[in-house]
Amino acid sequence: MRPSFIAVAVAATLSVSACSKEESDSEPVPTTVAQPQELVAVPVLDPATGLIVAQDWELVRANCTPCHSAKLVTQQRGTAEQWLRMIRWMQASQNLWPLDDNTESRIIAYLADNYPPDAARRRAAIPPALMPPNPFSRTE
Ligand code: HEC
Repeated sequence: MRPSFIAVAVAATLSVSACSKEESDSEPVPTTVAQPQELVAVPVLDPATGLIVAQDWELVRANCTPCHSAKLVTQQRGTAEQWLRMIRWMQASQNLWPLDDNTESRIIAYLADNYPPDAARRRAAIPPALMPPNPFSRTE
């Protein structure tokens, strides 16, 4: 009974793939090739908090979401130093509890790795009048 079932399943799979092969033969071949920036891994998000699921994310969920939405965390970007300053500010003024060294450094590593300063937050371009002379310009 079992072997014949498997044989049927295999035959069905083969005929389906044969079908889709024919279809794809008649369709135009895609001409666009994925660009390197499109190949960046898409992070997996925790559906409840929106936190990126990566090493120690649960530590961050436990310590950083009791008082406010995780959105406050995920919309923020910073270096390890900037994240540490934010934690110190909350401890000094917002009643964030003391974190032991191990917990704190793991939380900061998670934050700095997953929410680092990004291109969208770079400063605006310097106005042309404030730019230094261009050594390659023919008119200057
Ligand atoms: C004891 C409560 C409490 C805990 C726990 C807590 N926070 Fe906060 N946090 C606050 C309060 C209060 C604010 C100010 C909220 C507001 O402005 O609406 C805040 C604001 C923030 C902001 C926004 C700062 C800004 O400049 O807008 C960030 C980012 C943040 N918290 C990150 C964290 C992280 C990361 C953790 C975990 C290490 C954490 N919070 C844990 C109380 C807490």
